[in-house]
Parts: sequence; structure tokens; C-alpha cells
Amino acid sequence: MENEDAMRFFIENPAPPTLSDVENKVNKFIDLQPENRNVVLVTSGGTLVPMEKNMVRYIDNFSAGSRGAASAEYFCKAGYAVIFLYRNFSMMPFVRHFEGPWTNLFAKKDDESPLSWEIKDSLRNMLSNSLEDLELMKEQNQLLCLPYTMLTEYLWYLKTVAEGLKCLRSRALFYLAAAVSDFHIPAQDMSEHKIQSGAGKDKLELTMRPVPKFLRYLVDSWAPEALIISFKLETDENILIHKARAALHRYNHQLVIANLLTTRKRSVAFVIHDSVMWLHLSEDDLRNGVEIEYYIVSQCVKLHKEKNLT
Ligand code: PMT
Repeated sequence: MENEDAMRFFIENPAPPTLSDVENKVNKFIDLQPENRNVVLVTSGGTLVPMEKNMVRYIDNFSAGSRGAASAEYFCKAGYAVIFLYRNFSMMPFVRHFEGPWTNLFAKKDDESPLSWEIKDSLRNMLSNSLEDLELMKEQNQLLCLPYTMLTEYLWYLKTVAEGLKCLRSRALFYLAAAVSDFHIPAQDMSEHKIQSGAGKDKLELTMRPVPKFLRYLVDSWAPEALIISFKLETDENILIHKARAALHRYNHQLVIANLLTTRKRSVAFVIHDSVMWLHLSEDDLRNGVEIEYYIVSQCVKLHKEKNLT
């Protein structure tokens, strides 16, 4: 019955024209991996749901992509091959260090001469290290970046990557940090053209339908042998752990990482079976610029190793 929901979703929302290109890239990337290398799919950013077929308006899910981009980087450094499924124009691993206004990169000495501009000392090493890391990832075939924008693209690509990774069995890890829409307007109910405002219209009523929870299909049939880690974002701390536990029991995967919108960059909770382990950045970490994703990824790599030993 539930699998029927997923099938129906893919029938009602046909594959994007880019799907075969994505499929080729994924299969080629997986073929290039040495036998002893694990592969992780990191999803990142938020999905967009259009309100019109000729889209002028849309509903978006919040995420800057910082969690996904930083995590992808730490997985690469831990020796994983990373398929990075990210919202187009959101943050990307390694490149994220170059993002922000260009002027932030430069320092200006006191005088007015243009010759007084120079790259900030503190950034010089970091920028050249990031470029070197990127070169290395390219050389070692360790990073494949796949952009999506729409919810339908995200779900078609997720399914395609899962199918590609199936042959790796327990060497595959799914790290689902993207914020995926729970509701959408099915194609057949969507207005063809821009929804009109005008005389006599004092409100806009939209009917959105639930998006099937694809985590279930991932666990049950698309990637039954892989380690699957999902994230739970809430704004109310009183329900966070309860919701994370409920997701873990409902989908029966290995780990939910729970976070609150306001504190997500310095605290997360690992919810596994019946235990909850909080991870907080220390004052020292904050002072030294240590990112919480460094610890999150270390824990996930450890869990993956342990799972594959049993
Ligand atoms: O990018 P940043 O700004 O750094 O923010 C990072 C983050 C807060 C977005 C990230 O840490 C996070 O919490 N991501 C998950 C957000 C969330 O709660 O998503 P969700 O409720 O849409 O989904 C929860 C889980 O169910 C996800 O793992 C998702 O893959 C899955 N899901 C969701 C909807 C759906 N239709 N099917 C699904 O399988």
C-alpha cells in the first residue's frame, strides 16, 4: 500500500529530462570507486514546490546547505567517496570557504592606494588548502555534485542514486540532511499559468497533498543494507527528541540526528534506539573555529564501521 504511494508519486510527477544524465554520472562515479572505499550520499539544502506549472510562485523549505556542505567535506577527508545531492546555488563542499562578498576576502591598509588591498592573512592558507583539497578530490574521484531545485527532481535523483548504490550493499551510507517538503501540489491539480489576483478575490486557497515519506522506501526496499541517517529539524525544543524517536521507530533506520533551528550549529542530539546522546561544541571549539559537522561525521563513520563489523 505504502509502496503504491511512492509509485503513484512517480507516475503523477514524471521524471525530469536530466534524469538519464544523472543516472550515467552516478553509475560512472560508482564504477570508478576502489573496492575498499565506502560511498556516502549527502543530501543538502531545501526542496522547492511550485504553485504553478509555469512557475512564478513557489514554496520553499529552509536550509542554507551549510550542514550538508561541511559534512560532505569531512566525509571526503575521512576517505569516503561522496555523492553530494544539493539544492542549486546552496553551499558546496570546499567551495563554501570562498563564498560571501568578495570584499570579505581582502584587507585594506590605511592609505588610499589600490596597491594597499591584499588577501587577509588569516584566509590565505585556508583558501589555498581548499583549492588543494578540491584538486585531490578530483584526482581521486571522491566527489560527485548533483544539483536539484524542485522536490520532484530531488526525489527522482534520490531514487536513482539509491538504485546505483544498491550494489555496494553495506558500504553505502545515506546522510539525509536536506529539508524535504512534506506537502506539494500534484501536477494534475496545479494551475497551468500564474494564479491571478484581482477583483472579488480576498484570499488564495491552496490544497496541498502529503508527499509520501521516501525514507520508508529507502529503508525497506531501495537500500535495505545501507546505513541510513536522517535529520530532524524542529523549532520547539519540547518536541524535538520525541519527534526524532518517533521517526526512528516509524522508519526503522539506524540514526536520527535531531537539531533545533536556533542552535543547530553548536548542538545536536544523536537518537539511536532508546538512547539520546547530546553533542555540544565547547567554548574552545567555538574559539578555534571547530565545526560541529566534524564531530557529527566522526560519529557517523564510527557507527558505519561498527555496523559493518557485526
Ligand atoms: O543547511 P543548514 O542551514 O545548515 O541547516 C541544516 C538543517 C537544519 C536543514 C539540517 O540539519 C536538518 O535538520 N535537515 C532535516 C530537516 C528536516 O527535518 O527535514 P524533514 O522534516 O523534511 O525530513 C526529515 C527526514 O525525512 C529527512 O531526513 C528527509 O530526508 C526525510 N523525508 C522528508 C520528507 C519526505 N517527503 N520524505 C522523506 O523521506
